[in-house]
Amino acid sequence: MQIQAIELAHFRNYRGLQVDFMPGVNIFVGANGQGKTNLLESIALLSGGGSHRDARDAEMVQWQEAYYRIKAMGTADGQPVVIELAFGGERRKLAKVNNRRLRRIADLSETMNTVVFSPEDLSLVKGSPAQRRRYLDRELSQASPAYGDVLSRYARVLTQRNSLLRRLREGSATAAELELWDDQLAPLAVETLARRLDGLARIAPYARQIYRGLSRDKEQIELTYRSSFPLPDDRSRWLEAYRKALQERRAEEIARQATLTGPHRDDLQLFLNGRDARIYGSQGQQRSIALSLKLAEIAFIHQIKKEYPIVLLDDVMSELDPDRRQQLLSELESKNIQVFITTTHLHAFSPEQLGRAGIYRIQAGQLSRSNE
Ligand SMILES: Nc1ncnc2c1ncn2[C@@H]1O[C@H](COP(=O)(O)OP(=O)(O)OP(=O)(O)O)[C@@H](O)[C@H]1O
Ligand SMILES: [Mg+2]
Repeated sequence: MQIQAIELAHFRNYRGLQVDFMPGVNIFVGANGQGKTNLLESIALLSGGGSHRDARDAEMVQWQEAYYRIKAMGTADGQPVVIELAFGGERRKLAKVNNRRLRRIADLSETMNTVVFSPEDLSLVKGSPAQRRRYLDRELSQASPAYGDVLSRYARVLTQRNSLLRRLREGSATAAELELWDDQLAPLAVETLARRLDGLARIAPYARQIYRGLSRDKEQIELTYRSSFPLPDDRSRWLEAYRKALQERRAEEIARQATLTGPHRDDLQLFLNGRDARIYGSQGQQRSIALSLKLAEIAFIHQIKKEYPIVLLDDVMSELDPDRRQQLLSELESKNIQVFITTTHLHAFSPEQLGRAGIYRIQAGQLSRSNE
C-alpha cells in the first residue's frame, strides 16, 4: 500500500494535522523535539504491530486529551484504501479498513506493512536475546497475524505457570496442577518454535546475501536459532522433547519460581565469518549486520505479501556513511518503495534526491511543505 494523505487528531504533539504525501521519498526535517518521530510513529501504528519505540497507547494521546485518531488514505493494488485507528474514549482501541471494523488490531498488517529503521537497530546485534526475539516476532506477526495470537496465548499460559511455580514453592499448589499447565504450554511452545524456525529459514538467505553485498563479498554472516532445549531433527518429537526438558528442570524452576525453558528463553545467534558477531564484530560490522537484518525484513515481507512494505527511516541517515546512505536510498527508490525519513538536516541528501522527494518542515507539531 502507498499512503497519499494522513490525518491526525490529538496524537502526541499534533492537535490536528492533515497532510498529503509523495509516492516515493518523503523527508521530515526539523530540530530536535518538534514531532518528526511522532509522525513516523503514527504511520508505523497503521500496520498493527504497535509503536516502533514501544510506547503505550495512553502515552501517545496528546496531553490533556482523551483519545487519539489516525486516518490514512492511500491505494493498494490500484484500489483506494482508508485505514482508521483510534484509541481512547469509550471504545478503547478500534481499527477500520474501508469502514469495516477489524476483529483485532494486528489484522491491519493484512492491509499495510511497515519496516522501521532506527539507530536502536544496532541493539539487534549488541543487545539482549530479548531484542533479537522481538525482531523475529514482530516480523513474523506482520507476515501472519495468527502468529501474534500464538505468542500472546503462550505468554498468558507462561504467566499462569510462573505464578503456580510460586505457589508450589509456598506449598499451596500441587505438582498435578503444574502438569495441567504444561499440557497447555507445550503445544504453544512447539508451534512458536516451528513458526520461528520456518520464518528464519526464509529470512536468513536474504540477510546473508545483503550482507555479502554490503561488505563487497569480503565477509559473510550466518543466522542460527538457539533453542533453550535440544531440538530433535524430527519435528514430531519436539513436544516430547520439550516436556522432558520441563521435567528435568522442575526442581530448579520451583526454586527459582520461573519457567526456564521455552521460546521465551531462546536466541537468534549471529555469526560473522564463523564467530559470534555480538562479541567479535566491530562497530561498523555490527551496524552493517543490523542493516542487513532490516533490509532482509523488506525482502521477506515482499516474498510473503507480494508487495513491498512502507519503509520508515528514523534518524538513520546521519548514522550511515555517504556510500551506504546512497546505496540504501537508491535501493529503495529502485523498487518504488514509499519511504518516510526523519532528519535534522538535509545535507545528507543529494540535490537529485531532494528534487524527487517531498520535503516537510516540522516545527512544534506544525508541518509546512517546502521544496528546496
Ligand atoms: N503525548 C504527548 N502529548 C503531547 N506532546 C507529546 C506527547 N508525547 C511526546 N510529546 C512531545 O513530542 C516531542 C517529541 O517529538 P519527537 O519525538 O517526534 O521529536 P523529533 O522531532 O523526532 O526530535 P529528535 O530530532 O530529537 O528525534 C517532545 O517535545 C514531546 O514533549
Ligand atoms: Mg526523533
